[in-house]
Amino acid sequence: MTCCDLKDKVAIITGVSHEKGIGAAEARMFAAHGAKVACCDVAIEGTQKVVEEIKSAGGTAIAVECNVADPDSVKAMVEKTVSEFGTVDILVNNAGITRDAISKKMDVEKWDMVLNVNLKGAFLCCQAVASIMTDRKSGRIINTGSIAIVGNVGQANYASSKAGLIGLTRTLALEYGRKGVTVNMISPGATDTQMLEGVPEKIYDFIKSEVALNRIGTPKEIAAAALFLASDEASFITGQNLFVDGGMSIGL
Ligand SMILES: NC(=O)c1ccc[n+]([C@@H]2O[C@H](COP(=O)([O-])OP(=O)(O)OC[C@H]3O[C@@H](n4cnc5c(N)ncnc54)[C@H](O)[C@@H]3O)[C@@H](O)[C@H]2O)c1
Repeated sequence: MTCCDLKDKVAIITGVSHEKGIGAAEARMFAAHGAKVACCDVAIEGTQKVVEEIKSAGGTAIAVECNVADPDSVKAMVEKTVSEFGTVDILVNNAGITRDAISKKMDVEKWDMVLNVNLKGAFLCCQAVASIMTDRKSGRIINTGSIAIVGNVGQANYASSKAGLIGLTRTLALEYGRKGVTVNMISPGATDTQMLEGVPEKIYDFIKSEVALNRIGTPKEIAAAALFLASDEASFITGQNLFVDGGMSIGL
């Protein structure tokens, strides 16, 4: 058997609207491995396009509008997924934002915005699927951290939100472990998505030079790690954070 068959599994993936984003790559890859995918995002237009693409390739997916920072929106998103596909087997908390500023100059709105989406959003999505998974004694949750958890100038909000996910991941792994649910985290390094657009060339080249493999990662390479953690093959792994960063974290 080849690895990572998700046939008939129902997966929720958040943050899917950017065609070149990590969430879209995960949605395509999960669907190609047999999962029925609920693609969830505040930006529904782009999400719909990704869903159409998945369907054209023979996969099963729906687009669900959802603001992960809003408890009612998250509840409605999970209800819609269950009414469409019957249950939830896998949750990938991928939605994330940056609002960079040096900490002295970071206004509280920027702090709240990033913490609300990246950390509270993941918590709300976990909470909304928890009973479904624990009742069935099976489930996979994958949170999306970042290389920034080691600390990054100008990203006090982002680094804190992603570091906070470690505590969330480990705590939920303990709370749900006896109920057959695994909770893990992937921490991408610099990855070629819209999030990196606008980074000045000098900084881009510097980032690249810090990577052991001397290149920027692709969304597919991040998706492959999420796929593995979502699969039956990862059944004895829980509470872990996996850097998928070409070795960038080694020397830090
Ligand atoms: N690209 C990188 O270099 C990199 C590195 C480390 C970690 N990450 C993390 O990987 C994840 C995906 O990053 P990406 O580069 O694909 O980013 P991206 O900006 O392409 O995608 C983020 C998605 O999240 C969605 N989103 C934003 N706020 C939302 C909300 N409130 N509710 C629902 N959806 C919302 C956006 O609409 C978008 O579709 C993020 O969590 C990011 O922090 C990315």
